[in-house]
Amino acid sequence: MLSNLFGGITPAQFLAEYWQKKPLCVRQALPGFTGLATREEIFELACDPDVESRLVHYRTNAPETSTVEHGPQKRSQLRGKREPWTVLVQGLNLWIPAADALLHQFDFIPQARLDDLMVSYAVDGGGVGPHFDNYDVFLLQGIGKRRWQIADQQDHTLVEGAPLRLLRDFSAVHDWVLEPGDLLYLPPHWAHYGIALGECTTYSVGFKSPTAQELAYGFLDWLAEHLDLQGMYADPDLKRQDNSAEVSPAMIDQVARMLDGIRWTRTDIAAFLGGYLTEPKPSVFFDPPDEPLERAAFVHALKARGGKLDARTLLLWSEEAGFHINGEPFAVAAEDRETLAALAHRRRIDAGQKLSPGLIDLLHAWHKDGFLHVTDGKAGF
Ligand code: SIN
Ligand code: CO
Repeated sequence: MLSNLFGGITPAQFLAEYWQKKPLCVRQALPGFTGLATREEIFELACDPDVESRLVHYRTNAPETSTVEHGPQKRSQLRGKREPWTVLVQGLNLWIPAADALLHQFDFIPQARLDDLMVSYAVDGGGVGPHFDNYDVFLLQGIGKRRWQIADQQDHTLVEGAPLRLLRDFSAVHDWVLEPGDLLYLPPHWAHYGIALGECTTYSVGFKSPTAQELAYGFLDWLAEHLDLQGMYADPDLKRQDNSAEVSPAMIDQVARMLDGIRWTRTDIAAFLGGYLTEPKPSVFFDPPDEPLERAAFVHALKARGGKLDARTLLLWSEEAGFHINGEPFAVAAEDRETLAALAHRRRIDAGQKLSPGLIDLLHAWHKDGFLHVTDGKAGF
């Protein structure tokens, strides 16, 4: 993590005093930062069918008439001069190596909670209107200036009929103008309203915050695949029913006893979480190399130049359920666990690093799947 990200506050202090508790505005968190992509690059991504984007016209005086268009955007629509607009590009970290590096500057918060880096480009007066999010967010100013008004209001009534979640009444308690390199942290549910003062870009680090209901759906799906209940419905003592259409109490009792056999352990929960948290989003596809290196050439290149996980790769582990990569569990020899845990944390292998033959086999398979790349020698963020 960059040492002065919070201007003298340590990550431990940040977690204790601010994370999920109160906002923090840090001037010059990243001195000299003017963004990671040019306007042209942002527009190009917004027009790419593989990239998730939204073009928003928020209308201050008639919020219910605001519009949102999901990507791919048309280049001609990114020129509007009649009214303010903003375009938001999700998952910048998947497309720009420096954005992946920036996202991972925030992994003093566990990677299991990190979601993605979004960028917004706005013309003067552009923004998405006053709203709140259900997750924490770090807002980092790229080029230009943006005025942020924020409020801890309890009234979360939304504008009816609007295509965006807009707060009907918003009254700010803090008002800041962020300049390039300034950072604003907001806990979940804090109302916020950002307005571009001239052309500007804002980078937001977003976090996963699944609801209990989403986790339950996910877990029940996992459980359905892993259940192994024995026995089958049987009724040797069946008695003639007066009404053959009745589902009898005896039948309900027997099924209740069978379903009582559904059990799960803490290890099952850890295994579910490993898969759930590393599952690539539906829009994510890996690009295996056209000409993968043979094992010997791979080892040689990895030893000489090191390697790094693909920006799309999600690799997590737990004591209870071991390692998961991109939705799948995999077995690791006990002596390789530490090396692999370090790779998962740092997301890279150093040149010259000692690796066991078993680990090389694993990394080679990941190379062929496009999950890991041998470093190409170009500088990162
Ligand atoms: C923006 O960058 O305009 C929107 C970010 C947010 O409100 O979360
Ligand atoms: Co927001």
